[in-house]
Amino acid sequence: MKPGRIIILPSYSDAMLSIAIINGPNLNLLGIREPTVYGRETFDNYFDKLTAQYPDISLTYYQSNVEGELINYLHECRGKQDGIILNAGAYTHTSIAIADAIAAIQIPVIEVHISNVFAREDYRKTSYIAAKCIGSISGLGLTGYQLAINYFNSPL
Ligand code: DQA
Repeated sequence: MKPGRIIILPSYSDAMLSIAIINGPNLNLLGIREPTVYGRETFDNYFDKLTAQYPDISLTYYQSNVEGELINYLHECRGKQDGIILNAGAYTHTSIAIADAIAAIQIPVIEVHISNVFAREDYRKTSYIAAKCIGSISGLGLTGYQLAINYFNSPL
């Protein structure tokens, strides 16, 4: 390097971390739906708390009951999101198409389940999406979303 030349390196701390939280079918009814399993808090209320807790992270929330809409939204995250937190609801246990979408978009995805799917019906013990995700969190209630944000914010 010539003496006196100044090299300006990009500062990664300047770039705001962008994370999308995506909830699948029936999760729009959180707070009302089977409260003994999923709790009494609405996701909108919880999301407000998350945005207040992480002012330096760009958090986006999307929910759909429709498999194709979830896939379209996963595609839309390309080039926009650094990480995705996905609770695919019952599609977890059925959807090869969502698994393929996760594999296609090349964005790290963390699978979250509010309930402990391994302590419930046998059909909930199979996840088509788990192998395409970087990790899974199950059974820790809504705190699972927060733990996933913490991972993206400060990976191991
Ligand atoms: C869920 C578990 C799924 O088995 C179920 O179909 C859901 C919610 C959870 O968050 O615990 O809709 O993903």
